[in-house]
Amino acid sequence: MAGKSKSVYICSQCGYESPKWFGCCPGCGEWNTMNEEIKASASPTKSSSSSARGLKTYYLNEITADEEIRYQTGLSELDRVLGGGIVKGSLVLLSGDPGIGKSTILLQICEYIGKNLDILYVSGEESVYQLKLRADRLGVKSPTLTIMSQTDVQAICEYINTNKPGLVIIDSIQTMLISELSSSAGSVTQVRESTSMFMRTAKSSNIPIIIVGHVNKDGNIAGPKVLEHIVDAVLYFEGDRNMSYRILRAVKNRYGSTNEIGVFEMLDTGLSQVENPSLMLISGRPKNTSGTCIACAMEGSRPILAEVQALVSASNFGNPRRMATGFDYSRMAMLLAVLEKRAGYFFGSMDAYINVIGGLKLDEPATDLCVALALISSLKDVPVRDDVLAFGEIGLGGEIRSVSHCEQRIREAARLGFKTCIIPRHNFASVSAKLKKEIEVIGVKNVYEAFASSID
Ligand SMILES: Nc1ncnc2c1ncn2[C@@H]1O[C@H](COP(=O)(O)OP(=O)(O)O)[C@@H](O)[C@H]1O
Ligand SMILES: [Mg+2]
Ligand SMILES: [Zn+2]
Repeated sequence: MAGKSKSVYICSQCGYESPKWFGCCPGCGEWNTMNEEIKASASPTKSSSSSARGLKTYYLNEITADEEIRYQTGLSELDRVLGGGIVKGSLVLLSGDPGIGKSTILLQICEYIGKNLDILYVSGEESVYQLKLRADRLGVKSPTLTIMSQTDVQAICEYINTNKPGLVIIDSIQTMLISELSSSAGSVTQVRESTSMFMRTAKSSNIPIIIVGHVNKDGNIAGPKVLEHIVDAVLYFEGDRNMSYRILRAVKNRYGSTNEIGVFEMLDTGLSQVENPSLMLISGRPKNTSGTCIACAMEGSRPILAEVQALVSASNFGNPRRMATGFDYSRMAMLLAVLEKRAGYFFGSMDAYINVIGGLKLDEPATDLCVALALISSLKDVPVRDDVLAFGEIGLGGEIRSVSHCEQRIREAARLGFKTCIIPRHNFASVSAKLKKEIEVIGVKNVYEAFASSID
């Protein structure tokens, strides 16, 4: 082992380090996540050639950079989230709960990418036979795909440097091991050092590497959060494992926006892209029921419709319960206060729950109005009409404020067969007459007006 080493306690979820043990991590507040690890004082992989005399700088003008080279994956939903494809020489982390479909999607894209590039798929979790069975099930036959069952990071990096594949997939980072480090596979030290080593390999060889990182609640295994700052892009695969659809989103991207989402459905034959996510997210909603309303949120460049459900019921305890899934909790509290103070809807002694269907997260103020209508509808037990869609930001004065991308949202509503769109009064004038012929557009000033226009 290199250099002196000392023992430290590191949180597996957030990477907080401390010389002494805590039951509850001071960094992130999780319990039983502090593990003892031996920290080598000198990184085993440090190169020795970095004396100041060898350093070289460049004038910006003398650097001729080629255009950013991107590889399309054959899945346009994935390409969109990546910002237009996998960038050459980048390190991408694909993260998500076990069983969500990370290995599946990565093996699937090999078929398309394999037409142009040699691919190395390294699995530390499955044997090559298991991978073959999976590839057969997914219909992946690419002759340029090589598979390796290996966990030794140094050996893998050496292989990459000599054989120079066009794309490398590492599944998963928690199984990778640098033998010189004394901590066990999956520890924060191992996961971080392995990632750094793959990062250096990706940069020096200009080969893109995708690594899989499991999200886990197990306190002994490092979560993907501890390596988000090392990599170029972090994609999260989300969704209910019991439901068939999955949402892919970027939480960090050095080469693109982090607003875009990709929607997939898990089938026997693998993940398939959902071309019309709005339709999927609002299908199966109850008819003529109080407490539901359809919102239109901009996810990056696309408008996406989602169903918001609210349940308001008399509270049995002194302190009413409030819960929000897919919507910001404090924003919900603010909306309840505004509705009470400015519009005379009393939620004081009521429990209130908000749920956004389909695992979507609504973090845009433009969805305020929809959430407010769902709440009022449940409180009054009067359903919002099925063919009504509403958007608008609600101010503290109870006024409905204008939002961006107004026409795009209305067009999406019209496309999916909605009859009425309730929008902020200030946006009304900017909507073209042509669009107003396709769908009834109502401009409203306050919540009271909005609710009156949305019911029978
Ligand atoms: N033999 C199979 N037939 C149909 N679906 C399967 C089969 N094996 C796995 N799956 C689906 O694939 C999912 C596992 O995906 P996987 O890519 O292995 O997840 P991850 O790599 O994220 O842990 C399972 O949840 C299941 O829905
Ligand atoms: Mg897997
Ligand atoms: Zn922590």
